[in-house]
Amino acid sequence: MQIDKTNTTFEQLTTPMLIVGVPKTRKNWQAFTETFGEQVEQWIKAGDISTAQKKLTKVPFMHSIARVLFVGLDDAKALTEKTLRESFGLVGKALREANVETFTLWVDSFVTESITADDVAYLAGEGITLGHFAVKHYKTTENVVAPVLKQASFVTTAAIDEIAAAFEAGSIYGDATNQARDLINLPPNILTATELANYAEKLAEKYGFEVEILDKAALEELGMGGILGVNRGSVEEPRLITLKYQATETFEDVIGLVGKGVTYDTGGYSLKPRDGMVGMKGDMGGAAAVLGAMQIVGETRPNQNVVAVIGATDNMISGTAIKPDDVLTTYSGKTVEVLNTDAEGRLVLADALTYAKQQGANYLFDIATLTGGVIVALGMDKTGALTNNEDFFEDFMLSTGETDEFVWRLPLTESDKKRIRKSPIADLNNSPGRDGHMIFAGGFVGEFAEDTPWIHLDIAGTSDAEADHDLGPKGGTGAMVRTLASFIERKGAEK
Ligand code: BES
Ligand code: ZN
Ligand code: ZN
Repeated sequence: MQIDKTNTTFEQLTTPMLIVGVPKTRKNWQAFTETFGEQVEQWIKAGDISTAQKKLTKVPFMHSIARVLFVGLDDAKALTEKTLRESFGLVGKALREANVETFTLWVDSFVTESITADDVAYLAGEGITLGHFAVKHYKTTENVVAPVLKQASFVTTAAIDEIAAAFEAGSIYGDATNQARDLINLPPNILTATELANYAEKLAEKYGFEVEILDKAALEELGMGGILGVNRGSVEEPRLITLKYQATETFEDVIGLVGKGVTYDTGGYSLKPRDGMVGMKGDMGGAAAVLGAMQIVGETRPNQNVVAVIGATDNMISGTAIKPDDVLTTYSGKTVEVLNTDAEGRLVLADALTYAKQQGANYLFDIATLTGGVIVALGMDKTGALTNNEDFFEDFMLSTGETDEFVWRLPLTESDKKRIRKSPIADLNNSPGRDGHMIFAGGFVGEFAEDTPWIHLDIAGTSDAEADHDLGPKGGTGAMVRTLASFIERKGAEK
């Protein structure tokens, strides 16, 4: 999207669509009313233009403006950034539906006592980009050219350069999240581990990241029994994908992002029921979140070193597949008794996490669609978390507040760890039981973090939306892309 850095007044304005915030009580509307007349106030009073929160009213042809989209804000004092972002999500959706490619935002109409013009521009860039997203399809009957957002311009009394920059920053976050959504939505016969690696390689090329792709032979050489075990039933090769973004002269003080990239999860011999298997193309949501966050890192170039490691494979059945009762030796050397082949994510993450540590990560995140348990515990709209470091977690929570992605921490106790470590024949078992199994799954991954500060994010609920929502359609959401990137950006800025 092109971002226009020339400020215009209402009088000079020609645009296919002007976007206006309508709070219950309107200040600073003098210039607007002078240009467009009393008519709008009358429409608002009559209720033809709604001031209700998240209510949009589209009015055709006002002066030289093709259409005005009025966005209800209700009580400006009570307006939150979350609601405003979501309102802009609905604007994005409306722009798509109206096939509008160029629009103008009257920034000041959205400003409140606590939400600055810069905030408005940022949230608009992010929200409109997210809301404009549509799921790519393979329908031969619909041959429409997908609408794109081509140009944004602004009417504002604030400094136009800052407004344009804030809007652009928001749209960078939105675009990267949309990319993650596209990856999640790809059918599993198309997005294989090899293809995921190809995607990562292209991303690395674009942003100048160091990249390493390990194939099956390389993983065998290294003894990565976790990811290889999960891959054993498949005709598709696994890949271990590593991207490095180096901000400082020496690769020190490194944040590690470790993603579960299971491109399809049948459950293996602990086979999923037929209904539970549908949708398991999204089991690489963690990998998508990592790649989305890296895209933002590539765009914003923070002063913070990052290493991203993705374990990519599908989880299939064949004569060579692992079975319950098998014992695997992970890359760390720790052995695992496999009790359930559907608890495969933790096996992949174990090796990827050990590798990330070896590559220099001092702070670790693992992001994964790891358990149905997190959905049972928290529902579809909350990411579940575990940690081994209070300070790290508290710091991370500041970023979830910035992006309004809801994260809730569950406990990981010594008795939980005991159950993860309980096996008559190995160091660990991969399925201690159904009770609290989100904790067992994440806690298993934590065994490989050891003393390194670590945060586990289980996005099984949040990575895929069951229905359309204000910030996008049903399907992949790109959960945690924005929060991870925002955390990395802040850490860079703090240095
Ligand atoms: N990929 C699934 C988790 C999942 C469930 C993701 C629903 C998205 C939506 C994971 O590999 C899995 O199968 N987990 C099992 C663990 C169990 C076998 C201990 C689960 O949650 O049932
Ligand atoms: Zn599984
Ligand atoms: Zn899985």
